[in-house]
Amino acid sequence: MIADAPERDGFFALTHRKERALDIRVMAGDVTTVKGDALVVNLFEGVGSPGEGTGRKRARERKLLGGATAAVDAVLGGAIGKLIRAGEATGKWGEQTLVHSLGRLPAERVLVMGLGKTEDFTLDRVRAGSAEAARTLRRIGARRVATIVHEAGTGVFNHAQATQALVEGALLGLYRFTRYKTNNEATKAIERLTIVERDRLRLRAVTEAVRRGRILADAANAARDLVNEPGNTLTPRELARRARGMARAARVRCEVLGPRELRRLGAGGILGVARGSQEPPCLIVLAYRGRQGGSHLGLVGKGITFDSGGISLKPAEHMESMKGDMAGAAAVITALCAIARLGLPLRVTAVVPATENLPSGSALKPGDILRAMSGKTIEVINTDAEGRLVLADALHYARRRRVTHLVDVATLTGACVVALGTINSGAFGGDQAWLDTVLKAGRTTGEKIWPMPMDPEYDELIKSDIAEIKNTGGRKGGAITGAKFLQHFVGETPWVHLDIAGTSESDKEKGYQPKGATGVMARTLVNLAIEMLAK
Ligand code: BES
Ligand code: MN
Ligand code: ZN
Repeated sequence: MIADAPERDGFFALTHRKERALDIRVMAGDVTTVKGDALVVNLFEGVGSPGEGTGRKRARERKLLGGATAAVDAVLGGAIGKLIRAGEATGKWGEQTLVHSLGRLPAERVLVMGLGKTEDFTLDRVRAGSAEAARTLRRIGARRVATIVHEAGTGVFNHAQATQALVEGALLGLYRFTRYKTNNEATKAIERLTIVERDRLRLRAVTEAVRRGRILADAANAARDLVNEPGNTLTPRELARRARGMARAARVRCEVLGPRELRRLGAGGILGVARGSQEPPCLIVLAYRGRQGGSHLGLVGKGITFDSGGISLKPAEHMESMKGDMAGAAAVITALCAIARLGLPLRVTAVVPATENLPSGSALKPGDILRAMSGKTIEVINTDAEGRLVLADALHYARRRRVTHLVDVATLTGACVVALGTINSGAFGGDQAWLDTVLKAGRTTGEKIWPMPMDPEYDELIKSDIAEIKNTGGRKGGAITGAKFLQHFVGETPWVHLDIAGTSESDKEKGYQPKGATGVMARTLVNLAIEMLAK
């Protein structure tokens, strides 16, 4: 007997287990009264003094320890102070010290998080520290945990921002892609996170910050889900179906243009790339109207659901990672939905060209010439430079929808990975003010973005002898010539291209980044919309 093909519906029925959403609560009161499996407090480096102290000295030390940690220390009979004097707890960044409360506190354990030097403390450290604490507590089987909001009192960021970062960090750090793990009934999970706020007057602001943190982290985690999903299940049509589902939940409009409409629009780039695939391509369009008039943000995301390279076939090694060649699409779809959830007062349109890039008897060939939606002719030198072909149409289409500002997000070039590694995404654009706005949004988010040059001299490299432009400019400056190609399709609209080829996936767990898809740019794009409104 032949077993059912695992790719089809039955497979989901067997294995699909959705991670239960973390229940986040805010409580006003004293940390020493909260129940639960664990309570998280913090310790900054250089707090307290070594050596056996007198009663007075210890009292001073507790004061140095600061509000919540000192209060917990007092109830624990000085256990934390003792750990500090013994040099076991130093407050170094990333240090974790777990203390059992043995009935002295209603919380079973206390996790003392080392937060490093106060002068080095940043919002991104709040996110990372929160994530590391959450994962440690999950590992030991804690289900109900409580935490204070980490702050250094340096005034670099406010309490609401710290709260938002704490929530983002916990949710991002606890993310895991368990859909295809069959044996997961026994998996440990944190069910509830209680944020303990001493000051009642802050309760409203804290609750609002929790909501924002949750919306941002949910967006990035939804993007991660899309990127982690394999190419056999996340086809262009499935990507459209998921986009539609998210759009409905966020109450935004979703249109999906199929092959017929794409032909009518003259989308030669998308249709050209799709020729090698059995899966029909589509153009996914989400539209959010937070107000009439004003700025209209256009978000374009590369949606290649699998990139084999086409006739210019990629080598087998690491080809499986090309299921993630739609990370740009994932970022723009989830960001738009998050912007809608936040109810931000601006217009946003997201445009995603979705197709596979595969070789076949009908596939695009090197030397072929395509006519893009804008009318421009393109000589295809390398079928593996497919992202720019589909983005050419999507950028033009976004302009037809009358966007005032454009950002595209794409896993566009290996050259960008060579240039910036996996730390920074590359930013390319001609409009300095708009570029600066995008860079600032990245900084707020904790996602590193580095500006790249766009001198006109690079244009020479993509001139074609027989068409207007060609789709590769050789190996030199490959990330820049990719961006230069895209620039041909944005007209006068302020535009920034973000190359996330190096940052869309992580090969190791670090801070709020688990191994695998990062969901990069989902949160930055939301913060970009917020930034536009602040202008
Ligand atoms: N999707 C790839 C770029 C990529 C590489 C993403 C590594 C993530 C990790 C893109 O379609 C591609 O193949 N680009 C080519 C362009 C070249 C042929 C001009 C590349 O970078 O080699
Ligand atoms: Mn490619
Ligand atoms: Zn690609």
